[in-house]
Amino acid sequence: MKRTHWYKNAVIYQIYPRSFYDSNGDGIGDLKGITAKLDYLKELGVNCVWLSPCYKSPNADNGYDISDYRDIMDEFGTLDDWKEMIKAMHERGIKLVMDLVVNHTSDEHEWFKESRKSKDNPYRDYYFWRKGRGKNGKKAPNNWTSRFGGTAWQYDEATKEWYMHLWAVKQPDLNWHNPKVRQEVHDLVKFWLDLGVDGFRCDVITYISKVVRSDGSIPDGKWKPGIRGDEMFLHGPHIHEYLHDLNKEVLSKYDCMTVGEAAGVTIEEALLYTDEKREELDTVFHFEHMGCDMFMEVIPKKFDFVKFKKILGKWQKALFDKSWNSLYYENHDQPRSLGRFTGKFGDKRKEAAKMLAISLHMQQGVPYIYQGQEIGMTNVKFRKVSQLRDQLALNIYDMIKKIPFMKPIFMAIMNRRGRDHGRVPMQWSAEKNAGFTSGTPWFEPHENYTEVNVEESLKDPNSIFYFYQKLIKLRLDSDVSDIIRDGSYDSYYDNSKDLFVYTRTLGERKLLVICNFKNKDVYFEVPKNLKGKEAKVVITNYDEKPLKDMLLRPYEAIVYEI
Ligand code: NOJ
Repeated sequence: MKRTHWYKNAVIYQIYPRSFYDSNGDGIGDLKGITAKLDYLKELGVNCVWLSPCYKSPNADNGYDISDYRDIMDEFGTLDDWKEMIKAMHERGIKLVMDLVVNHTSDEHEWFKESRKSKDNPYRDYYFWRKGRGKNGKKAPNNWTSRFGGTAWQYDEATKEWYMHLWAVKQPDLNWHNPKVRQEVHDLVKFWLDLGVDGFRCDVITYISKVVRSDGSIPDGKWKPGIRGDEMFLHGPHIHEYLHDLNKEVLSKYDCMTVGEAAGVTIEEALLYTDEKREELDTVFHFEHMGCDMFMEVIPKKFDFVKFKKILGKWQKALFDKSWNSLYYENHDQPRSLGRFTGKFGDKRKEAAKMLAISLHMQQGVPYIYQGQEIGMTNVKFRKVSQLRDQLALNIYDMIKKIPFMKPIFMAIMNRRGRDHGRVPMQWSAEKNAGFTSGTPWFEPHENYTEVNVEESLKDPNSIFYFYQKLIKLRLDSDVSDIIRDGSYDSYYDNSKDLFVYTRTLGERKLLVICNFKNKDVYFEVPKNLKGKEAKVVITNYDEKPLKDMLLRPYEAIVYEI
């Protein structure tokens, strides 16, 4: 099979199915709901969907805990609904990238249920089972911590051993060192590819290979606050070998794409994962720019805009001609970018959202739009713990709730950083429940839905929606598409605290991208090497004006072709 690397001409829309659209009134989004909204996506102009997990799952982590890889979650519908959905996508020229969650399963997966029965069960070695330490083995086998808080091990009474879970207790880690596990993964990937899937977003794929000593013991990690043990499982010992095998045995036989979720990945590592010659993954999501407003992934700090630009620029330059970037500001684990990267936008929500869109979509790579980003959905003001739904947040709350002064700190962190911001229902209209469901929604919609919604966006020719539509068209089908796709990247104003300015150059042609990230007027001086050049406006969120030294208005963004 010839692989066409179609992702280099893709704009991907991420759907978090639980919150997208409910077709049957049970308050939970579903697959028929997605099918019902495909014409909307077609109108937006995206040509691929990344669907967060829709497999059978008891929902300890909203589907990222899978109990059957070959079936659909009851609340989302049936495999037949899924087949109808993918057919309807393909009919509209929209590809489908599924989430592939194979670092762990649910503890309700048949493999795990078998594995916990006895030490000699044939599935025992599908997971990491170890004796505990200390008297009676009642202390976890090592000091690794789970991303959901506390130790990464859970004691199980049946066999008096512990199993590893780098995420929630209900998400036991698969033992990829067992060849049978790797074969199972190959088989299930093949199962979906044969059903017509176009690719996979590979969940926490950089964690799949853990350090295990020859005597079977799993060493302690270095002591540090927060996550412990990651130097033992992040880009672990056999990861490149396992991904290469998956590619050779399965992926390479289909014209599909992969994007690996790769928290903590450096440029050097990213190049190893995505170098075409090494045949592993096509692209990765790095997280570096997501760390510009927080310490240790959770503790909020002031947004460092200069660092943000530096990181994005560094990735643009380093991957140029070698690999392909993934461009994103939002997903289901991140707060909304409006406000987060723009400061308080007041009555300039539309201008700010359009400016952010330009700043990202003019870069090289695969742009991702997270559901609702195209209408400028914003972060929620959570007032009470009972408003939160994310199990990760609720686990943290359980740990701190007895310490009175921690409660307001917890709420402040959730309001800045919580994963729930992106998970409230998609805002379709000003009707009850934002038009998301006719029943009782599983998650209360954002209070601003009467004003921020799809219906309103489709009526307003100046909406954020139509601006995204224009940006997508520029990338996929315009006379500057080649520059956006293939042009090299150079930055200007690197130390400016207000402006993000870069060029994309292809031969003699250039795009100059100017973005004012601030809610105030900012003076812009044309860089010396571009002064006096003939320039035509390609897109702007205000009105067209000639390229010259000028005062940019709040969040003004302009792209010139030079
Ligand atoms: C990353 C996913 O994006 C997140 O939502 C999930 O909780 C973890 N992986 C565990 O699967």
